[in-house]
Order: sequence, then structure tokens, then C-alpha cells
Amino acid sequence: MKQIKIEGGHLLQGVINISGAKNSAVALVPAALLSDDIVKIDNIPNISDIDALNEILEYLGATVKREGSLMIIDSTNVINKEIPEAISTKLRASYYFMSALLGKYKKVEIYFPGGCSIGARPIDQTLKTFKALGANIEEEGNKYIITAEKLVGTTVQLDMPSVGATINTLLVAVKAEGETILKNAAKEPEIVSVATFLNNMGANIKGAGTSCIRINGVKKLGSCFTEVIPDRIEAGTYLLAGALIGKNLTIKNIIPEHIESLTLKLQEIGFSLEKGSDYITISSIEKMNPINIKTLGYPGFPTDLQQPITTLLTQCNGISELEENLYENRFQNVEYLNKMGANIKINDQKLEIEGPTSLLGTTVKATDLRAGACMVLAGLKANGVTTITDVEHVLRGYENIIEKLTDVGAKITLEEI
Ligand code: EPU
Repeated sequence: MKQIKIEGGHLLQGVINISGAKNSAVALVPAALLSDDIVKIDNIPNISDIDALNEILEYLGATVKREGSLMIIDSTNVINKEIPEAISTKLRASYYFMSALLGKYKKVEIYFPGGCSIGARPIDQTLKTFKALGANIEEEGNKYIITAEKLVGTTVQLDMPSVGATINTLLVAVKAEGETILKNAAKEPEIVSVATFLNNMGANIKGAGTSCIRINGVKKLGSCFTEVIPDRIEAGTYLLAGALIGKNLTIKNIIPEHIESLTLKLQEIGFSLEKGSDYITISSIEKMNPINIKTLGYPGFPTDLQQPITTLLTQCNGISELEENLYENRFQNVEYLNKMGANIKINDQKLEIEGPTSLLGTTVKATDLRAGACMVLAGLKANGVTTITDVEHVLRGYENIIEKLTDVGAKITLEEI
């Protein structure tokens, strides 16, 4: 078990460099399996979710070399076999192997994926796409055995713009016969990055980043090189740290447009930001206006920043409202923020946050990845020492978080207990 200790109240100054996006990298790595040649992916973040995917690739017989942030994947000797429950339940993204293996070998045996417990997180939309393309799905408890004599392109309309189902459709349809038209697709930048990666291998995908994606199946996918896009959620988290307790804190190596829904909200609160083509600089301010936020798919306000921004809203002057529209159980951080002195009420899927309240260091828990980020932000701002338990969740998604925050002036340590 690991815990993070933070002595709060230290100004954050300097530059934080943003790593490759977790939610892009975790799709690119399984997608590499579709190639019949060697694939190179650079800017891979050093996080435990990537280690778990690496383990699955090697279990299947792929050769994986990691040189710093470069990952070289050779899938030519892959043997398509059942992926054991113990490894597929380590993370949500294991279900990208479901579609990559089905797309390449027309058969996959895998278990229901893992991931943060922030809601039910069904996979019905992915299964619906598989069926529409001609696959047969058998369920044995938690296990799925999915087979297809052939996969044939068709039109599929998602019931909601799911990121996972959109990426799974790309992966399964890329080698199917004919054209697959995906309607009501999710538009997140991570989807564009997967489509670009597959197109670099020789795929024919058009429209990624819009709600209608057209995938014309190809017979073979070859070698390619790609770079993971910057992590917009990591960038947003550190921007919020700067808003809470920063003095000219620069968040660098980012694509500012990817976090515009956050920067517009920060401006509504009263912040003035200095923006360049790949950076944003922020300082904390005295008086902050309360705001209202609703989480939505991209380009709306991301659910993954909902918990981190709650910490900032505890410091605004008045009542802010925050509505979570994607997950039914993503308020587990609230109990711990209140324990630190916040005044937050939960009404169904909405939070009412009354500020400003001073935060006082105590022992809190990282119940999930972004709840952990929320607690780190609270600890940076709080008076006294905050101890955050269960931080394995945080380490799944934030590369070198201790080093990055220490370098800009935070007093933060990681301890084994
Ligand atoms: N949904 C269904 N059926 C499906 C798929 C989704 O009902 O078949 C529902 C979900 O229950 C949820 C909503 O649709 O209410 C959105 O789910 P989506 O499929 O878009 O999410 P995901 O692919 O499971 C990814 C990220 C999440 C991020 C969401 C939304 C990865 C590995 N995970 O999840 O990231 O919250 O998109 O942007 O890419 C995180 O990084 O902390 C995280 C949870």
C-alpha cells in the first residue's frame, strides 16, 4: 500500500511538462496488435495502466521494447488465446484487446474489463457493434467468447457517444469487409489519435473527431510510428493546482484547445490566463466567482476533471453547482473534501458547493483516480499535512506526479506503508 503526504500552503512556481495522454496511450497499445509489422509509439506515459497492457501484449506473445517513452511493439508472433481474468480486470482499457483480437483473428476470449469504480460502466454498445458486424457473443459468467466467420461493415448508431465503444468500433471494423458507418460517435481527441495511428498503418478511416465516422476495411496493416498526444486531463489537473496556489505556474507541452472547456470556466471564475501555442500560465487570485458546470462528452466539460475542479470550487465566493452526467458514482471524493472542511451537499447527480471554506490537512482516501487528483489538489492548498491513502489509483494515471509537483515547490512525498 502506498500513501502520499503533502504539507500544504507552498506556492507552486515554474514549469510542469505534460506527459502523453493515458486515455490515448491505453488504446494505441492494444491497437498495435492489428499491425502485421513493427509499430513504434513515442511519448508513452510511465504509468501502471501501461504496464498492465504491456503484460497482456507479452502474455499473447508480442515482443515489447521500452526505451524511455518509446514503445516498440512486434506482434508478428502473437498467439490468440484467452486473456486471464486476473490481468483483464486490472484496467478498463483491457477491452480494447477484445476488439483488436476480434478484428484481426475473428475470435477473442476475454473477461469483463476493470477500471475505477465510478459507476456500472456497461459495455453493451461495444457488443452491439460487434453483433452488427456479424460476431456471435457467448457469455460464461464474466467471460466473453466472441467469434465471427467474417466481419462485414454496416451502419451502427451508438445510443450514447461512448469513447470506448467508438474506439472499439474502429479497431474491429478496420479489417472488416466493406464500409462501417458509425453514427453518434464520441469526438474526444483520443479517438482522433487512434484513427490517425490506424491510418498511418494503412487503414481507411474518415471523420474521426466528428459524430459520423466511416471506416473502409483493409486487408493488411503495416508498420508505423506515432506520438501520443498530450494528456489534457493531466494538464487540466495541474492548471487547477496553479489556480489554487500557483504563481506564474506554466503548464507546458499541451494542446490548449483540448482543455478549452476548462479554461473558459477558469475565466468565468475570474482568472486571466497567458496562453501560447503549447502552454498556459496561471496564478492564483484573491476573489473567485462561483460557477455552474455540467459534465458532457468532448468538447463539453470532461467528467475526468469534475472531481479535480470541485477542490477549486470550495474556494469560490458563493454557491457553485456541479452536475455529473456520465457516471452515477463519481462523488466519492466529497466525503473527504468535507472532512477537510469543505461545505458540499450531494443532491442526486448534482453537487452544491458553498465557498470559500478553509481546508485543513487530515487523512483522506483516493477512492479512484480522479478522486485522488482532487485530494492532491486539496492537500496542496490545505493548512497542515494531508495524508492520502490508496494512491495506487493516482499512480495509474499521473506520470511522476511527486517529481513534477516537487519541482515547482510542493512539499509532497510518496510512502510505502
Ligand atoms: N456507456 C454505456 N454503454 C457502453 C459504453 C458506455 O452505457 O457500452 C455509458 C457509461 O456507463 C458512461 C458513458 O456511457 O456513463 C460514457 O462512457 P464511455 O464509454 O465514454 O467511457 P469509457 O470509454 O469507459 C473513457 C475513459 C474515462 C473517461 C470516459 C469519458 C479510458 C480508458 N477511459 O471511458 O476515463 O471518463 O472515457 O470521457 O479511456 C479516467 O481517465 O479517469 C477515466 C475514467
